[in-house]
Amino acid sequence: MLIRQPADIPSSEITSESNYLNRRQFMGAAVSLGVGLVVPGAAQAGLQPDDEITPESIVTSYNNFYEFGTGKDDPARYAHNLTTDPWTVKVSGEAAKTGEFAFEDIIKGLTPEERVYRFRCVEAWSMVVPWNGIELRKILDQFEPNGNAKYVEFKTLVRPSEMRGQKGFFSNIDWPYVEGLRMDEAYHPLALMVTGIYGKELPNQNGAPWRLMVPWKYGFKSIKSIVSIRFTRRRPRSTWEQLAPHEYGFYANVNPAVSHPRWSQATERRLPSTLFAPNRRPTLPFNGYAEDVASLYEGMDLAKYY
Ligand code: MTE
Repeated sequence: MLIRQPADIPSSEITSESNYLNRRQFMGAAVSLGVGLVVPGAAQAGLQPDDEITPESIVTSYNNFYEFGTGKDDPARYAHNLTTDPWTVKVSGEAAKTGEFAFEDIIKGLTPEERVYRFRCVEAWSMVVPWNGIELRKILDQFEPNGNAKYVEFKTLVRPSEMRGQKGFFSNIDWPYVEGLRMDEAYHPLALMVTGIYGKELPNQNGAPWRLMVPWKYGFKSIKSIVSIRFTRRRPRSTWEQLAPHEYGFYANVNPAVSHPRWSQATERRLPSTLFAPNRRPTLPFNGYAEDVASLYEGMDLAKYY
């Protein structure tokens, strides 16, 4: 991801229940087969047969959250300074209900589900994480977007006093971090607004109090610590697209056939990954969720709309 440091890189409507496993099913099925946390029936689950849940200690200590620095360990080291309560979210644009909302009012009455998704970073590493979250469409529906809303844009908090990375030492980024989805992508049942991991509150370094999780897209789409939701007619320009449009597109669908200009996307390192045990495996189109989401992109040239 880091532009200055490439060496770091060693059906729009479906019944979603059959396409992923929630954590209880995942654990229960694995235990009943006596195979630890390897996923049985993985094709149906949208997971690979040898997918295993990544240790929590890795998921909470190997992070990308440039608001706290560009090192993988910076977010875990510095994000605890972030105040996440109170948390206000501004909703604007093409919707009936706009204004400023308290985070807890938005999620009130919506029970988070546990979903085990693979998570693939554009840097070619991946994890398997039990996310706790609410389907994004359920969140967005509350604001009653109108027919002009073709896209939804999200922004992260700007608070340099608590986010040391916003103080200018990584000045390439024009804060806030911005991401966006087409409305039909946002309304896909696999798109999740995450409020926790491993059955616990979302740690600050993973994007507290809530962050996006779009499992068929590269991780940079999964924007953290969201304070703004805007429904728009025009396609938003995402942060990484602004920084390097030839490297990071708006769609950012996981695609082994389209290389990043500086490295291949054909394979990935599943964490934990070491020099001697790189745990490398083939990358799957749409990160393995093609059956669920490929129809969203029918007729599109995915090499052009990367
Ligand atoms: N959101 C914000 N606000 N700032 C960031 O730097 N990094 C993105 C994404 N969301 C990022 C962000 C990238 S590149 C990745 S791979 C994931 O967060 C990493 O999520 P994780 O640290 O929970 O694994």
